[in-house]
Amino acid sequence: MPVSLDQLRRCTVAVDLGAARTRVYVKDTGLVVDEPSVAAVNTRSGALLAVGELAERMTGRTPDHIRVVRPISGGTVVDIDMAQRMLRQLIGGKLRKAWRRRPTLRIAACTPHDSEPLTQRAAVETLTALGARRVELADTLVCAAVGCGLPVEQPEATMIVVCGAATSQVAVLSLGSIVSAETIPVGGNSIDHAVVEHLRNEHELMLPSPAVRPLHLVLGSVEETQTEVHGRDVTTGLARSVVVDTEDLRRVISTPLTGVLDGIRTVLRRCPPDLVADLSDRGIMLAGGSALLPGLDTMLSRATGMPAHTAERPDTCAVRGLGAMLEGKVRPLHLDPLAS
Ligand SMILES: Nc1ncnc2c1ncn2[C@@H]1O[C@H](COP(=O)(O)OP(=O)(O)OP(=O)(O)O)[C@@H](O)[C@H]1O
Ligand SMILES: [Mg+2]
Repeated sequence: MPVSLDQLRRCTVAVDLGAARTRVYVKDTGLVVDEPSVAAVNTRSGALLAVGELAERMTGRTPDHIRVVRPISGGTVVDIDMAQRMLRQLIGGKLRKAWRRRPTLRIAACTPHDSEPLTQRAAVETLTALGARRVELADTLVCAAVGCGLPVEQPEATMIVVCGAATSQVAVLSLGSIVSAETIPVGGNSIDHAVVEHLRNEHELMLPSPAVRPLHLVLGSVEETQTEVHGRDVTTGLARSVVVDTEDLRRVISTPLTGVLDGIRTVLRRCPPDLVADLSDRGIMLAGGSALLPGLDTMLSRATGMPAHTAERPDTCAVRGLGAMLEGKVRPLHLDPLAS
């Protein structure tokens, strides 16, 4: 059964459980949590040592008895018990006030487009354990489109590409419904992985994934043709620096991005021609954390021949869009195909 706007309006809290980050929006308050979906556990005692930013900083720096885990993968809660413990730490304190005011708290959560019933059940089970009386699930693509300010309820096409950490989702919407959509298993993680592999194979340099982010900035600059990268030599294990061509890096990240382009083409092919004509003016809206990759809009625009715009605060679009629906700031729409 699709969820209705009325059902969403009865919720107090909006949650987006992402592979990279967990975000929580409280009705009439705003975004209260935006932290990495990471937990650090002592494997000897089973104790939870840290969550969020602190746990992420521990990644790759822990002794044997401490394990850093990510209980959410590709929009699916893969370790329900750990996700519940992480969420209790991350959001328990922030929700205490909302709970006191409304003990029969309802939570709304974003769920990937076309998510499996098992994925939906895992999200509901995780959030119910936090004390929610009811959990409503809303399609991430609709939430993100609303969060970007797209006029989704109008009888004209809007296209959104949500580039997350594990996946990218593409959709064309009209009259509040998804006309055509596609999920591609390519996101920020695959882009970082491609750069790490390139440095290892071509320069014999080992680089941890978090160290790739500064290289993204260089990709956005046209003046810089070369950049220095510090890492560890594959053979000797000693610290070493290499100078890398930015053009090479652009070529390396363009391989995973081809998947996103194919997804866009597939969605357009399935759309009625009138809607595709609308899109040639309006273009593509980019959301999700990976939309912050410098030059992504230009690259997609060049490859598709349509304008591409990066949303304002693209990383939090989905949870803010869901929050706007909770607050009744959205005109009635069908919200199909949302699950409940
Ligand atoms: N400034 C930036 N430049 C490039 N990439 C970035 C930037 N900020 C975040 N990212 C990338 O965005 C990704 C996280 O995006 P987002 O927060 O939308 O993911 P998520 O919602 O947790 O994941 P998913 O939707 O796949 O479950 C990470 O892979 C990260 O590397
Ligand atoms: Mg996401």
